[in-house]
Amino acid sequence: MKIKIADLEFEPLINETLITERTKAIGQQLNNDYQQSIPVFVGVLNGSFLFIADLIKQIDVPCEIAFTKLASYYGGTTSKLKIRDDIDLIMDITGRDVVIIEDIVDTGNTLHYLIDKLKARNPSSITACSLLLKPSALLNPIKELKYVGFEIENEFVVGYGLDYQERGRNLRDIYKKVGY
Ligand code: XMP
Ligand code: MG
Repeated sequence: MKIKIADLEFEPLINETLITERTKAIGQQLNNDYQQSIPVFVGVLNGSFLFIADLIKQIDVPCEIAFTKLASYYGGTTSKLKIRDDIDLIMDITGRDVVIIEDIVDTGNTLHYLIDKLKARNPSSITACSLLLKPSALLNPIKELKYVGFEIENEFVVGYGLDYQERGRNLRDIYKKVGY
């Protein structure tokens, strides 16, 4: 069913059941990969808040969770090259195994920015996990991006944490903009 958010129309792309399945599978991968240390999951707000909440419930190794807040789209439907750094990561990550949790990787600028910034704080390792990836929009490969839920076309999506003009974050499914 099509829905309207502000001036745009959206249609279903990935339903709740599929999201849950993939989240469980990624959780199992992380449980396998982080048995030797206590990883720090760094959630990137706002868009990833639902994914972080669901993913973390699948983690059964000891872990810690911290947050940072970055913005690149602010209101529109295309990625801005300028990243707004709203809330810094407060936790000391020196010597820690860090796993960044993102909602979506588009051009990759936001993730590159965050990885560079956190690397300077001397963690033992950094990997990244993103629910969504737009491979054809990615400007440079990101070797740290080891966990991806779904690869999608270069289309604007909302729902399950992702917004258009701050709306649609509450939707259980992911929708794409009609007529891309
Ligand atoms: P970059 O281009 O830096 O973009 O990889 C990543 C950030 O931009 C936001 N983003 C989106 N938000 N629908 C959204 O609601 C989208 O289709 C979309 N694509 C990118 C998002 O905040 C992400 O962290
Ligand atoms: Mg985001």
